[in-house]
Amino acid sequence: MANTVFIAPSILNANFNDLENEIAKISATADLLHLDIMDNKFVPNFTFDIKRAFEIIGFSKLPVDAHLMIEDPDSIAPKYAQNGCNSVTFHLEAVSNVLQTISDIKSNGAKVGIAIKPATKFSEVEPFIEKIDMLLIMTVEPGFGGQSFMYDQMPKVVAARKRINQTPEPKPLLQIDGGVSLETIAEAAAAGANCFVAGSAVYKSSDPAGMVSQLRKKAQISFIG
Ligand code: DX5
Ligand code: ZN
Repeated sequence: MANTVFIAPSILNANFNDLENEIAKISATADLLHLDIMDNKFVPNFTFDIKRAFEIIGFSKLPVDAHLMIEDPDSIAPKYAQNGCNSVTFHLEAVSNVLQTISDIKSNGAKVGIAIKPATKFSEVEPFIEKIDMLLIMTVEPGFGGQSFMYDQMPKVVAARKRINQTPEPKPLLQIDGGVSLETIAEAAAAGANCFVAGSAVYKSSDPAGMVSQLRKKAQISFIG
């Protein structure tokens, strides 16, 4: 389907003391739950330890899209796969053995994503594009919600879309994360992104479920495929 886009709300800016309810707010309209795991080493912030992360995965009714902003994902990413994540995304900048980690995530039953930070070039991740289920191009510096969307990442999205369109089916999703809102999502979709993480746009809205639907509508209209 040409116009299929995926909306993955991030709970980073939700109320951490009431996550079951916060997730329930978007469960009927979102496609995925984006779970940001930060270790205060790879990024200067901390979110959940592995025990709490597994509890969240356990009670989420949405498939969980784990975004690991951690050092040494080689040993930890497969544990997230084992514990029921739909997809596990690690950072290219943090991993030691890319191919082994891809294979360890897949063999533990999850889809695999690779994320790249704003300073990392598409050419660095391109050799792995046919081996993964999702490429995540960060549109902010990872670590915090509520930052401004980096429009200067759009040429990278265009290059990635061009290459993804040359890959055999099933093609990897092209995800963006950071600063996604009703103001920025159309430009990202027009550049070729088809999976959108949105944190503060959803959870600062008075109607999170409605915001997810509005974001989807805007992205669908602009996605070039
Ligand atoms: C940032 C995280 C994002 C964050 C996005 O490092 O990876 O998923 O929640 O938040 P917003 O949408 O507020 O930029
Ligand atoms: Zn994220």
